[in-house]
Amino acid sequence: MGLARRNVEEIRPYVPGKPVEEVRRELGLSGTINKLASTENPLGPSPLAVKAMRKAVKNMNFYPEDGAYYLTQALARKHGVGEDQILIANGSVEVMYYITTAFANPGESVVMSDQAFILYKIVTKVADARQIAPPLRNHTHDLAAMVLSVEPDTKVVFIANPNNPTGTLLSPPELDRFMSKVPEHVCVVLDEAYCDFAEYFARQRGVEYTHSLPYVREGRNVVVLRTFSKAHGLAGARIGYGIAPAEQIAYFARLKTVFSVTAMAEAGAMAAMQDEQHIRRTLENNAAGVEYLSKKIGEMGFRALPTCANFLYVEVGEDAAEVGRRMQDEGVIIRPLAGGWGAPQAIRVTVGTPEQNRRCVAAMRKVLEKVAVGSH
Ligand SMILES: Cc1ncc(COP(=O)(O)O)c(C=O)c1O
Repeated sequence: MGLARRNVEEIRPYVPGKPVEEVRRELGLSGTINKLASTENPLGPSPLAVKAMRKAVKNMNFYPEDGAYYLTQALARKHGVGEDQILIANGSVEVMYYITTAFANPGESVVMSDQAFILYKIVTKVADARQIAPPLRNHTHDLAAMVLSVEPDTKVVFIANPNNPTGTLLSPPELDRFMSKVPEHVCVVLDEAYCDFAEYFARQRGVEYTHSLPYVREGRNVVVLRTFSKAHGLAGARIGYGIAPAEQIAYFARLKTVFSVTAMAEAGAMAAMQDEQHIRRTLENNAAGVEYLSKKIGEMGFRALPTCANFLYVEVGEDAAEVGRRMQDEGVIIRPLAGGWGAPQAIRVTVGTPEQNRRCVAAMRKVLEKVAVGSH
């Protein structure tokens, strides 16, 4: 200890889940392990993406063409923005690193909710910036408190919409009001990793999802983050992107690790974008899974927060880390929201296949201390 810069010493590293095979070996479990911990797509990658990636493998002796030229073009067309308004990266988290390092000087502040995607805190430390994290209100971003938290030296505000880990959604008018109050020198990051799920649920409810792209087109100081890790099922390929005015994108491009996006990931993303059938199946499976899990969790005497994403936030009324261990013994891996997630008595359950969801419910019934009498 003590060798690194102070901010590096202070980083609480992201703790990824253990590989499924390792869990199986440690616990001596046979049979399937159901990993419902990391908001991944339970239906697998798009089959069209798999085919495209197989083809791309043959050219792995070459460096990728760095700007992900064809994907940038396709995304610019899809979103109605210029090619200079898109930066494709090794997952959307890579863009998060560029945002804080581009805008926040050491000691300047970055605003996020206290229960937010854990990487926001890490990338703030990486830039040696100062975190201001007002609490959620009713499990959702307290935009009024976030505006009040903005200080003269604040450079970035992170907002995940829907929020991870609570799955809650902000409405376009709420965000419009927020945007009208935030000073123009503050970069507002609208992280829309779960946009496909949110759009589906918003349509079901007859409401609008987001105005994020119009903000970019108006030249507001925003970065919209999107990813191929969720609905497209390419979390392992590592590919995501930022959409922002050209000025902001040009700063990120200066910082970008060369060749961080593989040609295989680009080929997979191009194909996955066009695989409407896979996306539709994913969204339908998710909506049915949300309904089933919410109902069963309710019958056990707990409440899953209404979600607009592919996971459920459940307060279990006891130590979540311990619940996580007991669930794991039953062959189901969920995410306890202890530590940096800020909710030591809550768990996040990713929606799985119907079979995985059934196993998850059975395990919860067995391991949760406060399951309502008569729910078995
Ligand atoms: C809110 C949010 N943003 C971004 C990501 C990560 O996306 P990527 O895989 O593109 O880095 C996640 C992943 O869980 C997330 O929950």
